[in-house]
Amino acid sequence: MLRTLLILLLVLPVTGCNSTEPMVDPFDPDDVDYAAIDNPAFAEDVRPLLVARCGDCHGADDDLDATSWDGLIAGSSGSEALIAYDSENSLMIELMTKLPTEHPAYEAHQLDPSEVDFLKRWIDQGAKNADGAVPYAGTDRSRVYVCNQMAGQVSIIDIENMVVARNISFGAPMATTPHDVDVEPDGSAWYVALINANSVLKYDAATNELMATALLDPTFKPGMLALDPNSDRLYSGRSFSDLSGGQSVYTIERSTMTATEAAIPYTRPHPIAVTNDGSYLLSGSLADNIIASYDTADPELELTDQVTVDGQQKSFVHYAIAPNNNVAVLTSQLSQELYFIDISDPENLSILSVVQVGNQPWHPTYSPDGSRVYVPNRLSNSVSVVDASDPANPSVTATIEDERFAMPHGSGITADGRYLFVANRNQDFEDGPRYTPRYPFGDNANVGHLSVIDTQTLEVIKVLEVEEFASGVSVYEP
Ligand code: HEC
Repeated sequence: MLRTLLILLLVLPVTGCNSTEPMVDPFDPDDVDYAAIDNPAFAEDVRPLLVARCGDCHGADDDLDATSWDGLIAGSSGSEALIAYDSENSLMIELMTKLPTEHPAYEAHQLDPSEVDFLKRWIDQGAKNADGAVPYAGTDRSRVYVCNQMAGQVSIIDIENMVVARNISFGAPMATTPHDVDVEPDGSAWYVALINANSVLKYDAATNELMATALLDPTFKPGMLALDPNSDRLYSGRSFSDLSGGQSVYTIERSTMTATEAAIPYTRPHPIAVTNDGSYLLSGSLADNIIASYDTADPELELTDQVTVDGQQKSFVHYAIAPNNNVAVLTSQLSQELYFIDISDPENLSILSVVQVGNQPWHPTYSPDGSRVYVPNRLSNSVSVVDASDPANPSVTATIEDERFAMPHGSGITADGRYLFVANRNQDFEDGPRYTPRYPFGDNANVGHLSVIDTQTLEVIKVLEVEEFASGVSVYEP
């Protein structure tokens, strides 16, 4: 017994103590030559740096977890932390490179320039995880596309995490000016109208690579798009800025991107929509008080009805079609009205009712159950909520106000009707209120943004900063 105890006493100190094992040095980014790493790997190169440089303040229990890939791409409650392939507009990089020295977060985000360049490299190569996955890639996630007209870009928002996932650039902003966007019903491709490039582009949604271009007449500036989910058709009206006097719209076959110009009997056809069964195209004019319907059987379209609305100049901006396909709503810029139009027989259009909304109502959106229409009012900086359950007697039941609205323009909604997305132009224009971006980066005088509205509370629950002049919006859900 004593012998056993003695042996134990002799053995224990040796096995129980680590002091003889070599010490592992803690990771120190200063020991790494980041300039030499051309292709940063997340697990080996990126994560250790993030843990060392960000972990004290942005760990697993914080609003932003910058120490894991999942945490980093999910962003904070206020914003994305990075945008794959776009380090220039990635918040984490902007915090490192654009903050004024007096900003409280300045010190916290000062990294060695070689470390900043290394992180930029990783983001510009796709911010891939250890398995080589690009954040939010693929076509199986819900997303919002929003044009950034004066930045020559489309931003793609991931709906589940409510963050900007990608920015797709078309080239020189003034030469491209993307205005509206639409998505293939199966999510496989998206389309964008480039006003100043006289073209409509088709992009692969999985890779966000250009697939094909429909080049339109050089005098035709495409504006709003209307996609028929039942056929191969996409239609384009003319931009607000198209003052050519041209009297036509375009029919585009999406599979081939073949474009056919269809003659119409009026100028400035901005509003455009296709009925839910695809049989008729609805159009109208910014210049004349005209609304019209066309049979779509032939790509050159056949005029089936044309109605002239009495009174002052209306300047019809844009349509939305009720889910039951019996009613269309149409905004009138100059008379600040929303028209309810009976389209149950599109060859006999008739106006059911007119309701006063805000100043310069823009792109309206129907709730998926047809009970409401949401109308962003460009110059009142508000969104009218219109009870549309009885289209002969609509009424404004609420007006959503938010100090961050700044020239609300486009809109879109989730399939369950819960979240409404409103694009804000936010330009120095007509003395309207401006949105002040969350961080003073110096280069964001005209940041556009997307307001996310909870339609149950009618409150703006998040503001997603995108690029200059957010305009047309399209929502895709698998
Ligand atoms: C010493 C603490 C500290 C460190 C270290 C730090 N941050 Fe921050 N970070 C902050 C604070 C504080 C804010 C909020 C600043 C504000 O609200 O003005 C912030 C904000 C952010 C935001 C914006 C979140 C939002 O939505 O406003 C991002 C992204 C971010 N940090 C990324 C990083 C990354 C990546 C690192 C490492 C490279 C890092 N930070 C290191 C303190 C830190």
